[in-house]
Amino acid sequence: MKCWFAPLKQTTHSTHSYLIITITTTSSAMTTVSAPAIIFFFFLLSLSTTVNSHNITRILAKHPDFSTFNHYLTITHLANEINRRQTITVCAVDNAAMSSLISKHLSLQTIKNVLSLHVFADYFGSKKLHQVTKGSTSTATMYQATGEAPGTAGYVHITDAKGGKVRFTPEDNPSQTDTVYVKSILEMPYNISVIQISSILQSPEAEAPTAAPDLNLTNLLQRDGCQSFYDLLMSSGAIGTFLSNVESGVTVFCPGDDAIAKFTPKYKNLTAPEKTSLLLYHGVPVYNSMGMLRSSNGLMNTLATEGAKKKYDFTVQNDGNDVTLKTKVVTATISGTVVDEEPIAVYTIDKVLLPKELFKGTVVEADEPAPAPKAGKKKKKAAKKGETTDDDAEAPGPDSSNDYSDDDVADSTASGGGRVVVTTVVMVVVVGFSWLVLV
Ligand SMILES: *[C@@H]1O[C@H](CO)[C@@H](O)[C@H](O)[C@H]1NC(C)=O
Ligand SMILES: *[C@@H]1O[C@H](CO)[C@@H](O)[C@H](O)[C@H]1NC(C)=O
Ligand SMILES: *[C@@H]1O[C@H](CO)[C@@H](O)[C@H](O)[C@H]1NC(C)=O
Ligand SMILES: *[C@@H]1O[C@H](CO)[C@@H](O)[C@H](O)[C@H]1NC(C)=O
Repeated sequence: MKCWFAPLKQTTHSTHSYLIITITTTSSAMTTVSAPAIIFFFFLLSLSTTVNSHNITRILAKHPDFSTFNHYLTITHLANEINRRQTITVCAVDNAAMSSLISKHLSLQTIKNVLSLHVFADYFGSKKLHQVTKGSTSTATMYQATGEAPGTAGYVHITDAKGGKVRFTPEDNPSQTDTVYVKSILEMPYNISVIQISSILQSPEAEAPTAAPDLNLTNLLQRDGCQSFYDLLMSSGAIGTFLSNVESGVTVFCPGDDAIAKFTPKYKNLTAPEKTSLLLYHGVPVYNSMGMLRSSNGLMNTLATEGAKKKYDFTVQNDGNDVTLKTKVVTATISGTVVDEEPIAVYTIDKVLLPKELFKGTVVEADEPAPAPKAGKKKKKAAKKGETTDDDAEAPGPDSSNDYSDDDVADSTASGGGRVVVTTVVMVVVVGFSWLVLV
């Protein structure tokens, strides 16, 4: 049994690999493992590698009653944050309940705080809600996680009241006792639970006026020790490329003033196009929150990347709490956050990133990971033998578009589902065929 499963771990998830393995292993394994068991095993394997994340926008889109709530999740960018998280509960309110929130004419930033109080950092399915230990519990919300909430204002109390009712009360508003659980919209244990609650959770802290963060990249780059880098962006004209990427999301790694000063002799030696490439190498055309950088290692393309010849990529690697950027010439460490608010992230780094394309002389050759096909992160392939190369499941990272719904499996696996079905059908046919030949 054990040695029979072993080779599977090293396969890529293509139909082809399954075919070969099925044919070469069934003949020896048939005597001990029944065909249905094999089919079931493959089915589980394919499912586990393709259905891996949720899309709250798509989940709620099936329920017109929640269209306003859904709309605000999108425009506040909370939807992306929800999709990135695992083990989460979203408390949706219907359009009528949303209109009472909107009538308060709060700023979008404040609405974001209020709605983030409706996203729990834990999984509460219907059953768990009705079986709360000792009748009451307290849960941290995304409002608490963002650091916007003063003290413990980002906590919500869940009370299993008499008569099967479940009450939700914000920590800073104990008098709110009329918001109750209505129904479950979707349960995907233990990744995401979407429930309906009867009204908006009213937290004075969350509703307090908040200044919208300054998302003017020109201003941001002139803050916190980025001035020298900003000056180079201005004098070279590379600033234009950074600014034109703001709308679709951008991450800037800004070498501190000291790092730029040390690098100046080398910089002067570069031609004008090389200078531009070097500067663009410090920008990534997608938004990467600190959480995203911390939770995934891998290759990252930059604003300087132009196809296979000018890769201009580097590897993001976590080292404890530190996030390092490795270029094969130099390893820089993120030393601070200037802003981390979708769609803009600006971090300071302790060294200038030297691309191997410009500083070949000092290249230290290491194992070369596969080139990333497009902008954004890509998981580095597992190099060690026996490690699962989970490309299908991990390559798109937080942006994976797979969805899951208990009432609509075909739709739930919109992007990965096709392959699951094809793979499973092929495997059933092949296993059945091998079985016939053997018998
Ligand atoms: C939950 O997420 C994990 C990891 O992404 C995945 O393997 C699992 O299949 C998901 N669960 C469901 C019910 O989809
Ligand atoms: C950013 O702020 C500067 C002034 O500091 C202004 O000139 C520029 O137009 C602003 N850019 C955007 C996109 O608002
Ligand atoms: C500048 O380039 C020249 C010629 O390529 C090289 O000899 C010199 O070491 C370089 N200087 C610096 C500071 O890199
Ligand atoms: C989620 O679904 C919506 C609507 O179907 C789609 O526009 C959006 O791109 C999806 N998001 C991701 C990250 O796949």
